[in-house]
Amino acid sequence: MSSGIVYLNGEFLPVEKASVSVLDRGFIFGDGVYEVIPAYGGCLFRLDEHLKRLADSLSSVKINNPLSISQWRKVITELIVKNGGGDQSVYLQVTRGVAVRDHAFPVDVPATLFLMSNPLKAVSDEVYKSGIAAVTEEDIRWKYCHIKSISLLGHVMLRQQALDQGASEAILIRDGKVTEGAASNVFIVKSGELITPPKSDYLLPGITRDLVLTLAANHGISFKEADFTAQALSDADEIWLTSSTKEILPVTELDGSPVGRGSPGVLWQQMIALYQEYKQNIRDNALL
Ligand code: PDD
Repeated sequence: MSSGIVYLNGEFLPVEKASVSVLDRGFIFGDGVYEVIPAYGGCLFRLDEHLKRLADSLSSVKINNPLSISQWRKVITELIVKNGGGDQSVYLQVTRGVAVRDHAFPVDVPATLFLMSNPLKAVSDEVYKSGIAAVTEEDIRWKYCHIKSISLLGHVMLRQQALDQGASEAILIRDGKVTEGAASNVFIVKSGELITPPKSDYLLPGITRDLVLTLAANHGISFKEADFTAQALSDADEIWLTSSTKEILPVTELDGSPVGRGSPGVLWQQMIALYQEYKQNIRDNALL
């Protein structure tokens, strides 16, 4: 259950008081898009980048952006304050609104706008010490994975398949190439070089992914954006998964076999330290 106060169509209200029509196209068709934005010490992480991706998702599915950038900033900031500040994860979604069920887009119907915020739990020391297990799965999703759509049935099924095998994440393979995780982007390290698949319609352009590449560029870590095969994934020295809520996770077991030496790698240690430093700067309000 979400904590405390949520925002729905112009109003802040307790979560138990917030409700939408059963005819909302988000409920009926999964017709909408979303974002997940972390805040550290009450300060938003890469807000402009998240709002740019939201605008791209909305225009791809032809929903008008209901708010301007300054209105988004105001609503999101207010929501964080109303929920007590600190480290939070803001979820926002925009759907095509309420209309009698018909696949065709309704005319002149206002979008439904919903935001909630939950405490952002730090990744446990145990995960940082031992890493996580992942499995490979065929990427059965549609071809517009760059859109952050709320239609997540494929993602949900793939994540559950991983959990059912005792792993934490599914790494997806399309036509022999690695795309991304069920809810994360994928990096490998091979012979000291960091590699992640290039942006395409087959993966979400992750905000955390981009920051990792920027940190690599700024700190002389060799990297490239290039496709790699499932075989290259299993031969990697290190595998990382990135997302707004899980940050940078080291994968130490893939399909039941150890990755590299079976413990978080040296490049990951370096990158997670840079990432923590970046977060601390946000908390200190230096990078808003
Ligand atoms: N998901 N790829 C997919 C399919 C994702 O769902 C996510 C994040 C990412 C990483 O993107 P970012 O670094 O911008 O969070 C990549 C969020 C966290 C979610 O659905 O909860």
